[in-house]
Amino acid sequence: MIKLDISKALVSAEKVAAFEGKVAEAQQALENGTCAGNDFLGWLHLPSSISAEFMTELQDCAQTLRENCDTVVVAGIGGSYLGARAVIEALSNSFQWLTNNGENPTILFAGNNIGEDYLYELTEYLKGKKFGVINISKSGTTTETALAFRLLKKQCEDQRGKEMAKKVIVAITDAKKGAARVTADKEGYASFIIPDNVGGRFSVLTPVGLLPIAVAGFDIAKLVKGAADMEVATAASVPFSENICAQYAAVRNALYQEGKKIEILVNFQPKLHFMNEWWKQLYGESEGKDGKGIFPAAVDFSTDLHSMGQWIQEGERTIFETVVSIEEPEYKLLFPADEENLDGLNFLAGKRVDEVNKMAELGTQLAHVDGGVPNMRLIVPRLDEYNLGQIIYFFEKACGFSGLILGVNPFNQPGVEAYKKNMFALLGKPGYEKETEAIKARLAR
Ligand code: PA5
Repeated sequence: MIKLDISKALVSAEKVAAFEGKVAEAQQALENGTCAGNDFLGWLHLPSSISAEFMTELQDCAQTLRENCDTVVVAGIGGSYLGARAVIEALSNSFQWLTNNGENPTILFAGNNIGEDYLYELTEYLKGKKFGVINISKSGTTTETALAFRLLKKQCEDQRGKEMAKKVIVAITDAKKGAARVTADKEGYASFIIPDNVGGRFSVLTPVGLLPIAVAGFDIAKLVKGAADMEVATAASVPFSENICAQYAAVRNALYQEGKKIEILVNFQPKLHFMNEWWKQLYGESEGKDGKGIFPAAVDFSTDLHSMGQWIQEGERTIFETVVSIEEPEYKLLFPADEENLDGLNFLAGKRVDEVNKMAELGTQLAHVDGGVPNMRLIVPRLDEYNLGQIIYFFEKACGFSGLILGVNPFNQPGVEAYKKNMFALLGKPGYEKETEAIKARLAR
């Protein structure tokens, strides 16, 4: 199992223990469904409730896409995007996931921005490709995703014909409402439902994440098993001191009380970049409300030690770090000896690249702790489906605890609507006439 090391968190055991009651209360409220946002608790026992039949249904759909596509575009944004991308990037060959390696389709992502060049270049790239689309949107009305899907649907139909398009376009959306549902039903696309009681950022273990991950060729059964084992390892019956979700939630809230307002999620493996992005959304959208919340930031080390390292070492002392540390890489690569030793690196000859990386990690921890940056480490034996499943569930449950301890509703995101209202008003969307007038008047002032 993955482990949490809080020994360098620079917070006393008493302060952490002081949160035991609050964590227990939060966990009880989650289990009893009595907390704020209790209509969005479907993620809590999701891993242990996924049936073998459902997994087979997902695998069959993934197989249809794999057999009929060299490229699959996953359209979605926020919670309908980041989890799948995080897992696929973490498990893929760094240089092959964007280029078909012959066994698995290339997975591309769209609908997560409105960049004209991005969409133009995507449509150009897809010319002549046997591509399919997974259209993911819980509401079924998200503009970024809907716009990309409109382009992709037309291109797919034009390139592959209406009949094949029906086979290679899949919708993952609400059971009844939203444009994505209407289109899927009318066109006869295969579709999966996003459960009502699972919010976007907690949905990676629903078809939202599982289908794209299966299409990419990864073992979703192992991913779910990892999450299910973490569900058991962090159950309400597990004592506070052994429950890593409870410990993480307690430490971060204790640090927040001491003025540590920013948490930086750190990795030392570039493949984890999008896990950082997924985590930022999970914690940012869950906690940042009512004028409260730790600001979730993220860095890729050692890359960002050469950009953000200075700030972290000596900037304002309002930060703490959580490092996702991978114990054993997939491959072995040794530094060769060099007779001339012009670069002076013979002291590393015969050593593994990872040994140097681990010393960078340890050296950074020592330096940052010396600099007054509390440090937690999530220790992960290796980067595989099983451990990623554990990481996902660990962060989700700890987020539920943390948000409730903070006193916010961790499962809504009312603030996300503000920009949408303005954008629709500015674009003259039907139904927004009053807002359009108000915004025009405001801009004219
Ligand atoms: O976590 C969330 O709820 C959001 O990030 C949504 O996932 C995101 O806004 C996309 O919404 P939808 O799936 O409705 O298109």
